[in-house]
Amino acid sequence: TIRAVVRGVGHYLPERVVPNSWFEEIVETSNEWIVSRSGIERRHFAAEGQTTSDLAIRAGNAALADAGLTADDIDAIIVATSTADFTFPSAATMVQAGLGMTKGFAFDVQAVCAGFIFALGNADTLIRGGVAKRVMVIGAETFSKLMDWTDRSTCVLFGDGAGALILEAQEQAGTTADRGILSVDLNSDGRQKGILHVDGGVSTGVVGHLRMEGKEVFRHAVEKLASTARTALAKAELTVEEVDWLVPHQANIRIIEGTARKMGFGMDKVVVTVQDHGNTSAASIPLALSVGKAEGKLKAGDVVVTEAIGGGLAWGAVVLRW
Ligand code: ACO
Repeated sequence: TIRAVVRGVGHYLPERVVPNSWFEEIVETSNEWIVSRSGIERRHFAAEGQTTSDLAIRAGNAALADAGLTADDIDAIIVATSTADFTFPSAATMVQAGLGMTKGFAFDVQAVCAGFIFALGNADTLIRGGVAKRVMVIGAETFSKLMDWTDRSTCVLFGDGAGALILEAQEQAGTTADRGILSVDLNSDGRQKGILHVDGGVSTGVVGHLRMEGKEVFRHAVEKLASTARTALAKAELTVEEVDWLVPHQANIRIIEGTARKMGFGMDKVVVTVQDHGNTSAASIPLALSVGKAEGKLKAGDVVVTEAIGGGLAWGAVVLRW
């Protein structure tokens, strides 16, 4: 059986670190409120002129270095983002050029905060279908560009960054002990647009800002994340007890803890980066995978469950053996 196996991982965070105290100057808020409601202590913001593809290229190069590969070894690049530099071309083709890759193909996937999960699903299908041997999957965002800086209920929650994973076709035995992606579960419900969206875009004629009904999103999040993670585990024929690490989308520590509790995971098995990155949308999972590996948490053979939910709503989970 051909599986999409993790060959390398890397990330990049913009230099500028913004502590919660910075927001006390621009809106009526406090470090105490932000930490207690979200778990966020700081986030990174891209510099003026620093774009999503700039971050993605740096993350991609870090993943290539980790894998001991060069851009010529990659067949395809998928970038998950809602904040591409341009309406077109895709951020992925700009990453392709930026990495010096002159063959293969590249495209973007847009499923907001669940984008990295959807991109992993696409990469898995391309690899198992024999279309590509090595796929670089990147989550990269500059959500700071979408903030309404007068809206305290959203502007304190998000950050910028990028993470990249290189997946490689490898022959495996075809059992639950295989390395690589073992199952994918994807879902969306377009009726839920109103609770989390940007009120603008090319065909509306305005750029728009992020709008969110936080309580409603929260209510959907824990329920749907636990459910998709359970479904993905069942598809992989693995039990919760067999999981080594839960690597959730990093939106809010209370959502992460609520989902872990519902699933029956101890927090000692959960990779948490939200305190340092804020919510980086599609970048949060590859950032957490990269940081988790650097902290010595993800080791070859470990079973990893990763899950996310975002605007749409769109949500899903992937089970893989590292
Ligand atoms: N500082 C101080 N007070 C604030 C702030 C702030 N930054 N923001 C809101 N408040 C106020 C509100 O105005 C409200 O005041 P009111 O009662 O006088 O009206 C009060 O704090 C309580 O607000 P709640 O909405 O009840 O706060 P809650 O405990 O629900 O926390 C939060 C808000 C953090 C947004 C929470 O609902 C949440 O995390 N929701 C999920 C949001 C999320 O994670 N979205 C991303 C997931 S999907 C994706 O990643 C895109």
